[in-house]
Amino acid sequence: MKETYRAVEVCDRVYWVGAVDWGVRDFHGYLTSRGTTYNAFLILADKITLIDTVKAPFKQEMLARIASVVNPRDISCIISNHAEMDHSGSLPWIVEAVQPEKVFASVNGVKAIADHFHMDREIIAVKDGETLRIGNMTLTFVETKMLHWPDSMFTYLGEKELLFSSDAFGMHLASSERFADELDDSVLEHEAAKYYANILLPLSPLVTELLHSVGGLGITINTIAPDHGPIWRKDVNRPLDNYAKWAAQKPTNRAVVVYDTMWESTAAMARAIGEGLTAGGTSIRLMPLKSCHRSDVATEVLDAGALVVGSPTMNNNMFPTVADTLTYLKGLKPKNMVGATFGSYGWSGEAVKQMTEMLRAMKVEMVDEGIKVRYVPDGDALAQCRSLGQRVAESLAEKCK
Ligand code: FEO
Repeated sequence: MKETYRAVEVCDRVYWVGAVDWGVRDFHGYLTSRGTTYNAFLILADKITLIDTVKAPFKQEMLARIASVVNPRDISCIISNHAEMDHSGSLPWIVEAVQPEKVFASVNGVKAIADHFHMDREIIAVKDGETLRIGNMTLTFVETKMLHWPDSMFTYLGEKELLFSSDAFGMHLASSERFADELDDSVLEHEAAKYYANILLPLSPLVTELLHSVGGLGITINTIAPDHGPIWRKDVNRPLDNYAKWAAQKPTNRAVVVYDTMWESTAAMARAIGEGLTAGGTSIRLMPLKSCHRSDVATEVLDAGALVVGSPTMNNNMFPTVADTLTYLKGLKPKNMVGATFGSYGWSGEAVKQMTEMLRAMKVEMVDEGIKVRYVPDGDALAQCRSLGQRVAESLAEKCK
């Protein structure tokens, strides 16, 4: 296998030894349209060290990449930055295969690895700020609790000014290129934003704190090596600046209109609301849920200042697709948004009230109680929808001042 799978040099003495998953499309509810990578890294210090592992089905691929540069049995230390199984799934197997002297994780990581794998093997806990000499090089550990699991941490390799950032600054993007500077900028921007919106958005206050505390460490970062997607070896301020911007969640003059429809009435209302928003000077994204995935809606919401939601009433409830998307968005805790609701109904019409309550629970500032239309909207009803769009645009313009 080592003749097939090769390690990729990140910088002198540091190699990428991960795996590319071209086919994965679901990542706990997130549509990974471009697949992903599980990045693991090998440091050829005096004590050879492996940073993270890969999802279990890719363990042989990782081992072969390691074997292309060293005898895997020469690995002395394994660092587990994060216990989620896309990074730890191969840990018990690789520990068995290479018999390292020591395995390290954060304090919470030790507990999480025990609860996942019930291994008969000591995992050594490292604390925030602790350093570890691996012969001629030094690792420093930075706890990043709840970014995005309690066990998450970064590992910094001082001699190379290289930050192994676990899930942070990553993206779900399968590619043959290993470095961000080899990839198309618009793809990087979109996939990084999608990843932040779907994974890190609810943790934005912690992201802001983390950026301050990493800034306060006084370390130089020349390379950021995340556990998913490409490695940042040029322009490392770009992912840092993006995270600062996304964590701030400042409202922008863009509205997302997300809806589903039974017989095109709610869709007609959505289009009329979109016309009103546009007339009011707001840029819009109309997202019918028959063709838009919840994780793409979350991506658009990241850069938006207004969320307008539409649903027909079915069996006294909002449509299942709308409930799915709102439940998902509620968990992501978008902030600083104005909003409105709308929908058609036949006889009971509960959906608009339900959606309004849900958006209020998300602290979205509602412009009113929403618009309900019985069966099919006529010209007057569509004019009301257009007017609703204009009022959302006005409210958003005010908020953006
Ligand atoms: Fe990529 Fe939280 O795992």
